[in-house]
This record gives sequence, C-alpha cells and structure tokens, in this order.
Amino acid sequence: MKTNYEKNEWLIVENGFHPERNRESESIFSIGNGYMGQRANFEEKYSGDSLKGSYVAGVYYPDKTRVGWWKNGYPDYFAKVLNAPKWIGIDISVNGRPLDLATSRILSFKRVLNMKEGYLDRSFILDVSGNKSLEFNVRRFLSMAEPDAGVIRYSVRSIDFDGKLEYTVYLDSDVKNEDTNYGQKFWKEVTRDISAGTGVLIARTMKTDFHVATGMCYDFKVNGKHISVTPTLINRSKYVANSFKIKVSQGDELTLVKYVSVLSSLNNQKKNLMDNVKERLVRISSTGYEKLFFEHKAEWGRIWAASDVVIEGDVAAQQAIRFNIFHLNQTYTGKDERLNIGPKGFTGEKYGGGTYWDTEAFALPFFLKTADQNVPKNLLLYRYKHLDQSIKNAAKLGFKNGAALYPMVTLNGEECHNEWEITFEEIHRNGAIAYAIFNYLRHTGDTDYMADYGAEVLIGISRFWNQRATWSEKRKKYMILGVTGPNEYENNINNNWYTNTLAVWTLKFTISNLEEIRKTAPDKYDKIVARTKFDFVKETGQWKKIISDLFMPSDKNRKVFLQQDGFLDKEIMPATSIPSDERPINQHWSWDRILRSCFIKQADVLQGLYLFEEDHDVETIRCNFEFYEPMTVHESSLSACVHSILASWIGNIDKAYELYLRTARLDLDDYNHEVGDGLHITSMAGTWLAIVEGFGGMRIHNNKVLFKPLIPRKWKSYSFHARFRGILFEFTVTHSELVIRNLSDKSLNLMISGNEYVVKGSEERHIIKLQ
Ligand code: BGC
Repeated sequence: MKTNYEKNEWLIVENGFHPERNRESESIFSIGNGYMGQRANFEEKYSGDSLKGSYVAGVYYPDKTRVGWWKNGYPDYFAKVLNAPKWIGIDISVNGRPLDLATSRILSFKRVLNMKEGYLDRSFILDVSGNKSLEFNVRRFLSMAEPDAGVIRYSVRSIDFDGKLEYTVYLDSDVKNEDTNYGQKFWKEVTRDISAGTGVLIARTMKTDFHVATGMCYDFKVNGKHISVTPTLINRSKYVANSFKIKVSQGDELTLVKYVSVLSSLNNQKKNLMDNVKERLVRISSTGYEKLFFEHKAEWGRIWAASDVVIEGDVAAQQAIRFNIFHLNQTYTGKDERLNIGPKGFTGEKYGGGTYWDTEAFALPFFLKTADQNVPKNLLLYRYKHLDQSIKNAAKLGFKNGAALYPMVTLNGEECHNEWEITFEEIHRNGAIAYAIFNYLRHTGDTDYMADYGAEVLIGISRFWNQRATWSEKRKKYMILGVTGPNEYENNINNNWYTNTLAVWTLKFTISNLEEIRKTAPDKYDKIVARTKFDFVKETGQWKKIISDLFMPSDKNRKVFLQQDGFLDKEIMPATSIPSDERPINQHWSWDRILRSCFIKQADVLQGLYLFEEDHDVETIRCNFEFYEPMTVHESSLSACVHSILASWIGNIDKAYELYLRTARLDLDDYNHEVGDGLHITSMAGTWLAIVEGFGGMRIHNNKVLFKPLIPRKWKSYSFHARFRGILFEFTVTHSELVIRNLSDKSLNLMISGNEYVVKGSEERHIIKLQ
C-alpha cells in the first residue's frame, strides 16, 4: 500500500513536490471550518493539474439532469455545491517572470497539515536564476472562531537574490465546477469594489440566486516593519486585484498577510452584503493575524479536549484517526440546521456536496458521542424541516396520505439523484432517518424532541413503508419489491433483509412512541394528530399486519439472513478469487457481470446486524459475518468500518484490526485510487466508530452505557472521549486494565463486560481487565 505522507501523530507531512499527485494532496491538505472549505490549491498561479475547490456551505446550483433514457419521475436536476469565488489568490512575479510551480525550478517543497492547531503550511525554495534563490513560507487557516474569516500569511525570504518581486493580491469569481453536466459557469457578477488595500466581489448563483460577498484586505511588512505600498488597481469583470512591485535584497524577509471575509445571503440580507463584508474586513484585520490565529487554535484545543483518540504503539493508526476526527470537525460544526455533511465535505465536487443517508448512519453517531447535544439535534432538525418536501417526493412516485420518502441525495429536501436504481430503489435511507431519531433519543434522553418533531417524521416514514409493502397471495406474506439495499451491486431485488428489517422496526418504534406521547403528553399528541391527520386505530392496525407478516429471507441451514430473495442461487465464492488486477471490480467489470456475481460492495445484512445487534445473539452475528465478509469487496468507503465493528463484537480482534486499518487510512494511503476527487468524510466517522463501538465495544442499551473492550495486539493502549447524556468521559484500554475518567460532575453508570460500575463526577476509576 502506498504511503505518501510521513507518519506523525499530529501532522501530515509531504516532502518534495509531486505534480503527478497534486490532486491527491490538494484533497488531503484541505482546510475548513464548517462554514466554508478550501482544497490545498496554491495561492500563486499554477498551470499543472489541479482541482480548484473553494466551497461555501449551503451554496449550491441545481444542474440540469443528464441521462440517456429519461424516465417519468426523474429529478430535473442534480444539485451541486459550487466551487465558490477564489479567495486565496496571490500571484507572484520574480524579475517579471510569473512564479508557477509547474514550470519554475523548485529546490525543495514541503506541505504540513497541523491537525492539532488547524492550519496548512507550505514552504519551498525557488531557484530564480541558476544559483539565486528565494524561500517561501505560506500559512493558511479558516478560522474556527470567526467562521467567515480566512487568513493567509505569505512570507518570502531572499536567500541570496537581489531583484524585483511583484505581488498581485486578488479575488476571482470567474470559477467553474469541473463536474458540470453542460459545461456551464454558474456565477454571475452582482457588483465589485476596489481601492488601495482592499477589494470586494459580490457574485450570485444562477437559478438559486445565492449571493456571496468575498472581501479582502492585506498588510505588508518588510523585515518586520509595515510598508505602505501604492498598488495598481485591477478592476475587471469578476476580478479585483491590487498589484505592487518591491525591490528585494539578499536577507530581506517580506510578509504579506491577506485577510478575507466570505459572507453569503444565507446569513445576510443581500442588500447589506457590501457593507457587512467591509465591516467584517475592518474587524478581522484590526484583530490581526496573531490574535486570530490564537483564537482559532483555542477552538481546536476545545475540540480535541472533547474528542481526541490517543493510540500508543501505532503511529500509523494514531495519525489516521486524528486525520479523520480533524476533517469531520472541519466539515460540520452543527451551528446551523440548514447545513449538513456531504460525503466529500468541502474537499471535492463528487457527490455534489449533497446530503446522503451517510449522515444518519455514520456521521450522526460520531457527533452524538463527541459533540454537544445541539450538534446532532441540528442534523435531525435538518430532516424535520424537509418533511413536507419528502411527502412531495413520495407523492411524485404515487404515494398518498402523507407518506414521506426522504431523498437519497439532496440539498433542499427534494430528491435530486438521477440514477434510477439509487433514486427510487435505495429506499432503505428512509429507515436510517427513522433510526437516527432513536439513536439521538438513547444518547441524549431528549424525549421532548420526539414529541415536538420526531413523531411527525416517523409517521411519514411509517406511512411510506405501509404503502410500499405488497401483499403476496402466493406466499401469504407482505413483500417489499424492487429495491436496492446498501449493497449497490444488486439492483431491483425483492425482500432485501436490511430494508425489510428497518421497515418493521420503524413501524414498531413509531407505534410505541405514539402510545407513549398519547399517555405522557396528550396536548402534544393532539398537535401531532392535527398536523398529520393521523388515525391511530386505522393506521396502526394496518401497520401491525406488516409487522407480523413481512417476509424476512433467511437460510436455516447456514443460520444466515439472506441479503435478498434468491441470493443463494448465485455462485458463492470469496472475493479472494478475484484476480488482484481486476480490483476494484467497479473499474474493471461490466455492470452485468457485477450484478450477476455474489460480490458485495458494502455491508448490507451486516449493516442491519450492526444496527440491531441487541436483537441477535453473538453466534448469529458470527455466522452472518463469516458468510458475508469473504464475499465483500468493500468498494464503498462505508463498508470496512461496519465489518470491523462486528468483527470486534464477535471477538475476532485480528480481523477487526485489519479492517480498521483499511478504513482509517483509506484516504491517506488512497486505497481506492480516488482521493484526488476528495476525501471520504462520512466514512471517517465510521473509522471513529470502529474504535469506540468496535474495539471499545461501547453501546447504549436500556439507558446505560456498556463496554465490551478489546485491544489490537500491536497497540499498547488506546483511549477515547465520549459523551452520554451530558456526561463527558475518557475511556482507556490497556492489555491489563481499563481506566474511566469522568470529566463531568454527574455520576456515570456503566456496564463493563457484564459487570456494573458507578463512576462519580470527576472520579478516575481503574478496573482490572478480565481477559
Ligand atoms: C455508497 C452509498 C453512499 C454514497 C455516498 C456510495 O458509493 O454505496 O452507500 O451513500 O457512496 O457516500
């Protein structure tokens, strides 16, 4: 497996300039702050291969769908989070020759992502003319404390060069997405403003009419002293720049700090954007680089204090888990319920930046255990606010009476995925959204959420399951026909065990919660009934029939649940029988061959056993794991983590560790040869779960936290932070003992490998580990 970056506990380091893998590094070294994100593109001109990417959360464009054979009901568009106006631009010319790392002579090059403090450093030495050189040191961060602020400190030191440097500090809204269906550009200019020392561009998106104001100002020092420069102003369509020349002598150090503010109409009235961005520039630049950086680092300090995972004895694993935690926190801060988590976050265009079931199934459990309750709550509210639209989505497909189908991909609640087997068939996503409400409830105990919001969503989803099930006279059973399960290498199948299991579970969960609300909060219950026109007796009467009679495929001899009807008609063989030069199969095999084969893209039956492992004994889980794991090719990033968690649950620590490494270093080691498109942000949450729920065996059952800890042989110890109902604690596992540090002032009740413990507020408890 290739490893391009130095192994270090807190840093990702790239030594030497590798233009052939620049896209990969641009993804790996991305920075973000939940509100915006930036790939590691260079500030200066770069004519080599690059995926330019700067993104503002929630600013998207509905790009007209492009498919070969249009089918009724297809979404009109695939929404795309847009490549936003470029804010990082600083062009440099040396003695009149533009600096371009693709064509200039570079003597050394280094990129460092500091995950502890949240910044990107880049340094290189430029050979100017034979033996004269300049050293560049560039630091960039997107402030965690002031989310609209981006800061670049751009330093140039003359090692032995005497001559002229020209700086062009600019903003540019003439940008495009690589992944457009019709090659269009999606930004129009609204206005621009420029003066010596500042510039502002306001651009708007076509169709969606989001307005984004990008403003810049800068500060320039030579050898530590402020220098006031008289720039030439460049003012043309979609572009503003300040350009100035300066003489440099050997030993001089020139430092330019570029302050940027990015405001959007999501949070500002359009008419005020120009004034607001100018006001923000004054505020940010007068705060100054040092203080902004200090406040930004302090925010990262707070994040790490509540979510760090420490692994002793395995630097590769340590670096990987921090990389994942870092990027998850760069992507989502949970402050705005209109925002969500795209599978690639702010690191690329793939998946359009839309919201997938990944959020509920993977990202939510991470934020439930690492962040304040409001953070996961905002993820749920996002879906609550999309309930009406989900009812419309279902109506477009012929469902009635308030049945809701949440979208497979969305930015505004409307389905926008345009592959039929995914758009229409992966209805299991509805189950993940129902399960998320349960998960939130058991972690937080926030029963008000259920009565105020959750129950309405559950009614809509239950109505959908009810209408989606078909009665089969032949089998005298209900069936759910024509679906795609999580394993996308099977389409249009009948009775996917995972989907059917979720359907039954949702119906039961909805009934029991409605009964509870009717008893404990009758006023709220009446409101729910009024809003949803719910008829308890009639509707739940029908639901109960499906609960007792929905077909669940299984094979008694093998003691396994069957992924779908007819699964055993396939030729069953292990993935190890596929020649290595044919992997990944999705890049080598025809779709026909993939669909016929038994090979599984990602956890499917096992995904269901992960969600409902409480309902099955370890032996059942083991039989299913041993049947499905050998056939699974893990060609979705969401797969290995789930398998790793289950491998731990059945006590197979070596397999769990092997699968953990695969998920943890998926991007750093570019397992699937696609990191150039962006990072797998949602699966990063799965990696974290593979430690906490996998090795740590953390579960919440019956209002209590349970652990069933194991430790990989190679590790000396590991410890993680987690939260349960407002209690933050740290759990450490070594080969001989467990240590629980309660970091709150409330008592924590725990079950560890079947024994009960109470750890008082601020207490540190050591427990001898029973092997
Ligand atoms: C997976 C889906 C997932 C999507 C986005 C696909 O490859 O099969 O389950 O939702 O990627 O991460």
